[in-house]
Amino acid sequence: MNDTKIIDGKLISSQIREKIRFYGDKLKDKTNKTPGLAVVLVGENPASKVYVKNKIEKTKEVGFNSIEHRLDESVSERELLSLVNDLNNDEKVQGILVQLPLPKHINSDKVLDAIIPIKDVDGFHAENVGKLWSGLNSLVPCTPLGCSILLKKINQDLSGKSAVIIGRSNIVGKPMAALLLGMNATVTIAHSRTKNIRELVKESDILIAAVGIAEMVKGDWIKKGCIVIDVGINRIERNGKNVLVGDVDYQECLKNASRITPVPGGVGPMTIACLLLNTLFTSYIQFGEESVDLTSILD
Ligand code: GUN
Repeated sequence: MNDTKIIDGKLISSQIREKIRFYGDKLKDKTNKTPGLAVVLVGENPASKVYVKNKIEKTKEVGFNSIEHRLDESVSERELLSLVNDLNNDEKVQGILVQLPLPKHINSDKVLDAIIPIKDVDGFHAENVGKLWSGLNSLVPCTPLGCSILLKKINQDLSGKSAVIIGRSNIVGKPMAALLLGMNATVTIAHSRTKNIRELVKESDILIAAVGIAEMVKGDWIKKGCIVIDVGINRIERNGKNVLVGDVDYQECLKNASRITPVPGGVGPMTIACLLLNTLFTSYIQFGEESVDLTSILD
């Protein structure tokens, strides 16, 4: 019974990556060019190192070129901007990802806005953000895009449904709100200053938890039939072991939820699949090919 509730992001993401490989191979055959994704990692943040390692591995698996730049924590903003400029002009690079967070002495907004919008596979450039909020075609941030694909996969018509997002980050919360609005949901964004989060969640048909606090959402917060999408990846110690948990108490929330994503194996692998999907998309455009029909990849 509970198995049918689980949204298997691991399986869905692997199916998407297979299709990306297929369309990537087609593009390579036609143009004699290989899509390239450049990943820039600054410093030694342990979580960032793991994310970047996984991104690079999956990039190679779908047959794309991976271009890696690891910079010392002490790198200056000017040096980083200069690298971004080089990558903008590099014909072998179709997508640029600068892993966040950046060290405090670097202005992240400035760096993200230096990436030319057509290589902005993270969808963080102001031009892509503006287009997303205007309902225009744009590159969409990978994690919220992954969540919206999961919601479409479970065939839920969100029209008239209420959705609450916990977390107002530029990476997840805000773009997720734009996507849910586009799917005709009524959207609330809750954050650390929101007074009645528990009540808001209790009234919601859809919950997107993207707050970064281990198991913050308790089982009795969940309305019966709620769809729960857990974006959190928190490392905690339990019974003397290091384990990964989400932002919701999975075992307890499972009881009232109609569908729920596990951690790990839910949203996490979808983020990487969407990064590759965005890279495929920008490659088709940069290689001068008719844009690939993304809907056929997502069917
Ligand atoms: N740090 C956490 N999530 C992300 C992401 O989706 N993209 C980048 N560039 N950095 C991140």
